[in-house]
Amino acid sequence: MFTDRATITQRAYGEQRPLAARFSIYDYQQDRVDLPGRAVEALREVTGPVLDIGWGLGMYTARIRADRPDLHVVPLDLSPGMRPEVVADIQSLPVADADVDAALAMHMLYHVPDIPTAVRELRRVVRPGGVVLASTNGADDKLEFTRLADDLRAELGTRPRAGSGDDSFTLGDASLLEAEFDDVDVLVFDRQNIVPVAEPVVAFVDSFRAFEEPALPDGVSWTDFMTAAERRVRAVVESEGAFRFTSQVGIFVCR
Ligand SMILES: C[S@@+](CC[C@H](N)C(=O)[O-])C[C@H]1O[C@@H](n2cnc3c(N)ncnc32)[C@H](O)[C@@H]1O
Repeated sequence: MFTDRATITQRAYGEQRPLAARFSIYDYQQDRVDLPGRAVEALREVTGPVLDIGWGLGMYTARIRADRPDLHVVPLDLSPGMRPEVVADIQSLPVADADVDAALAMHMLYHVPDIPTAVRELRRVVRPGGVVLASTNGADDKLEFTRLADDLRAELGTRPRAGSGDDSFTLGDASLLEAEFDDVDVLVFDRQNIVPVAEPVVAFVDSFRAFEEPALPDGVSWTDFMTAAERRVRAVVESEGAFRFTSQVGIFVCR
């Protein structure tokens, strides 16, 4: 994913709507993974404050507050448009050493320019014996969308998303966490997703506009890109009855 600050805070996460559109694709997951529920389970021994870093739409904070009202959760995000309680960068947390019992960095480390610094910050702010949860996707997650985007780029003469750092933090990157944590476990969830209508798939592609649009060649607009995307997705749904994709997501549990 892109890591430059303006892309993150203004274009990608300047408002909540695109991220909400991205999430709606998982409504069609078979045996849906309950990541917030898994996070709550992983926090079962935690009794003190919890930092939710890169809280996004707040689904982890909301679930922890619902299931563990005894825990004090502090939402933090680099993007003011996501309306966190604290606006801050994971690479430089405004938190004292060993100040919290747990920290979450869910689906956000791939956006961070200097991941080792972020991991050192996680280690610093969580007390010894506490827990850090970091979720991300597998390297082969949603390959069907990767292929769709590749086909669209070929059709429209678009550059690949060079230097986007898409693979900077996947489920294969435990070593980045093991550099600071003695014990790193990973929970992995492979799922099939069957979307019987085109709209959520098209909305999902559109939600990556901030990352994709800068690579469009002169003369190709975002409307052109989305028109081509919609045509391809509708053709798949019509001929195969659904747009199918596989997903792989996981949570690193670090102590
Ligand atoms: C893909 S969203 C994930 C949201 C949420 N954690 C979830 O899993 O549903 C990534 C979030 O990380 C935030 N973010 C990106 N870089 C950050 C950084 N350096 N420090 C703190 N937050 C950051 C973005 O603003 C965005 O809200």
